Amino acid sequence: MQIRISHDCEGIDWARVTYILETVGMTGGEPEFHQSIFESSDVVVFVFDADEVVGFGRAISDGGKNACLLDVAVLPEYQGKGIGIMIVDSILDHLKGCNVLLFANPGREAFYERFGFRKMKTGMALFVDPEAMEKRGIIE
Ligand SMILES: CC(C)(COP(=O)(O)OP(=O)(O)OC[C@H]1O[C@@H](n2cnc3c(N)ncnc32)[C@H](O)[C@@H]1OP(=O)(O)O)[C@@H](O)C(=O)NCCC(=O)NCCS
Repeated sequence: MQIRISHDCEGIDWARVTYILETVGMTGGEPEFHQSIFESSDVVVFVFDADEVVGFGRAISDGGKNACLLDVAVLPEYQGKGIGIMIVDSILDHLKGCNVLLFANPGREAFYERFGFRKMKTGMALFVDPEAMEKRGIIE
């Protein structure tokens, strides 16, 4: 493996990003949609093996107080090799001093606890599709 990390949306193969998201069971959408939301994010991280994207994550942030960690995903054949930790560490490095919120897929909570994330007692979310999020086990 020739692993490298980038914080740049320039030259990203958005069809591959879409493929990885679908492969790990995360939100659908066209490549152009993912390009738009990654390019509008304040922090992006892409992990490459040679020239191919194998994982990524992003965050939106006000730059000083609050931020939200989103779309952390690693291609299944690259999981368990420390790439997920690399992605989250790298994003958190850019969010120093901010409260960082996230909503984990059920079963992923322990992955985030290792970085110091703790369950919120009063966390609430106004989702566009609450029924789907309820089915996924994300809201009550
Ligand atoms: C969650 C995910 C990003 C982790 O990436 P990864 O590259 O496999 O993670 P790493 O190899 O860096 O694993 C780091 C550690 O987390 C642990 N870990 C990974 N997934 C875990 C989980 N679901 N629960 C608890 N621990 C987990 C690993 O065992 C490893 O621990 P160790 O170093 O003590 O052995 C990856 O499994 C993934 O893309 N999953 C599908 C998409 C997803 O659910 N993303 C998160 C959205 S909330």
